Amino acid sequence: MNTFIETERLILRGILPSDREAMFRLDSDPEVHCYLGGEPLTDIGQADEVIRFIRRQYADNGIGRWAVLHKHTGTFIGWAGLKWLTEPMNGHTHYYDLGYRFIKEFWGKGYATEAARAWVDYAFRIIGTDAVYALTECGNTASDNVLLKAGFRLADRFELEGVAHNWYEIKKGECNARQCTSIQVIIS
Ligand SMILES: CC(C)(COP(=O)(O)OP(=O)(O)OC[C@H]1O[C@@H](n2cnc3c(N)ncnc32)[C@H](O)[C@@H]1OP(=O)(O)O)[C@@H](O)C(=O)NCCC(=O)NCCS
Repeated sequence: MNTFIETERLILRGILPSDREAMFRLDSDPEVHCYLGGEPLTDIGQADEVIRFIRRQYADNGIGRWAVLHKHTGTFIGWAGLKWLTEPMNGHTHYYDLGYRFIKEFWGKGYATEAARAWVDYAFRIIGTDAVYALTECGNTASDNVLLKAGFRLADRFELEGVAHNWYEIKKGECNARQCTSIQVIIS
């Protein structure tokens, strides 16, 4: 089954093994990793492993981070999506986490906000969950702004491995029409 989400400017679809070069470009950039707590990739083989890891989540959980493509060019610009988390995080277990990561060239154009709004809509209308959560490292203002513009509220601050993080949540019914773009889900 292939499912696509279409927004005004974007197509979202599952990440494919053939996305390896774009994934490497994304994840080898130290600036992209500034607030992510990990190390940038140094070898394209690591991108293959990341893709395998993400695709295993599709198989196990039916969802995971998806590729974000520019609608008119088909260019891979980053990823965004829901991850089903089963490990405890700030007192929560078994919940949908929203995340996103874009190639630097495409920052500041509203793409993360557009993708985040689409995923909020997908979570409530297609998956039917009651809540979505997200976290940002304190100082990642761009990511804070994405979540606030997508309708999340800052619910808590907590320490993760000694680093201060913001905890965001959005509950079903809190997503108003202005914040949720209309999305089209195509299943073939
Ligand atoms: C965080 C990230 C996804 C934001 O992507 P983006 O497409 O540039 O975000 P948007 O264009 O939708 O911007 C959202 C808002 O944040 C603002 N913003 C963007 N970059 C900003 C920055 N560096 N500082 C402050 N505000 C910023 C934008 O102005 C916009 O608000 P506005 O519409 O009122 O102007 C992108 O910077 C990224 O990929 N960073 C590296 C990975 C990462 O940190 N992921 C999130 C982990 S929690």
